[in-house]
Amino acid sequence: MIVAPSVLSLHYEDTLNQLKELNESKAKWMHFDVMDGHFVPNLSFGPDILKAFVKGSDLIKDVHIMVEDPNYFSDVFIKAGADIITFHYEVFDNNEDIIALAKKIKENGAKAGLSLKPKTDIKCLKELIPYFDLFLIMSVEPGFGGQAFIEDTPSRINQLRKWIDESDYAPLIEVDGGINIETGKICSENGADVLVAGSFIFNNDIKKTIEALWKL
Ligand code: DX5
Ligand code: ZN
Repeated sequence: MIVAPSVLSLHYEDTLNQLKELNESKAKWMHFDVMDGHFVPNLSFGPDILKAFVKGSDLIKDVHIMVEDPNYFSDVFIKAGADIITFHYEVFDNNEDIIALAKKIKENGAKAGLSLKPKTDIKCLKELIPYFDLFLIMSVEPGFGGQAFIEDTPSRINQLRKWIDESDYAPLIEVDGGINIETGKICSENGADVLVAGSFIFNNDIKKTIEALWKL
């Protein structure tokens, strides 16, 4: 399992030590949540913080942009060092614009991901499978760490897994929100490739917790 620790939950008073633990852990990715105070009712990081993490770690920078203007912010965060940019389906009202942004992200040298809020019908992803490297299924309402996993998420993952396996493409399925060993195991059994975890990792022994998720 690919584990993507969400640095939203990093204890910032202890950044250097926690970053060192991440770098020594089994994690290959680092999940970086960008919030604009409009698409979600919270604010998080700008590009300069991402640049600092790029300097401090070789982990793949998996950047989840919860913003109303992903066209603008995808460029900003690619320039700051994002390897993957995942934007939200709900921001757009037509597939043409979604596909155009996926193409632009790839032309600018990053992988393109598309994220779905928990209440958005999973069906919309079927015809978008050819255009993305990754689909991020939110298992909580986006905006805050530390929320409880929403129970119908495994069936959504399972449905998407089937559509992907029937297609000629192999985008990754990533799950974000309320992940611990129990919920992570259910996601793994239903076809997830990447687990994002914030509070579960940073409120416990970082390296041991990452290793336990990595084994799922
Ligand atoms: C929520 C973010 C998540 C968050 C997950 O909007 O997208 O990445 O950090 O945190 P936990 O693992 O604590 O639910
Ligand atoms: Zn996220």
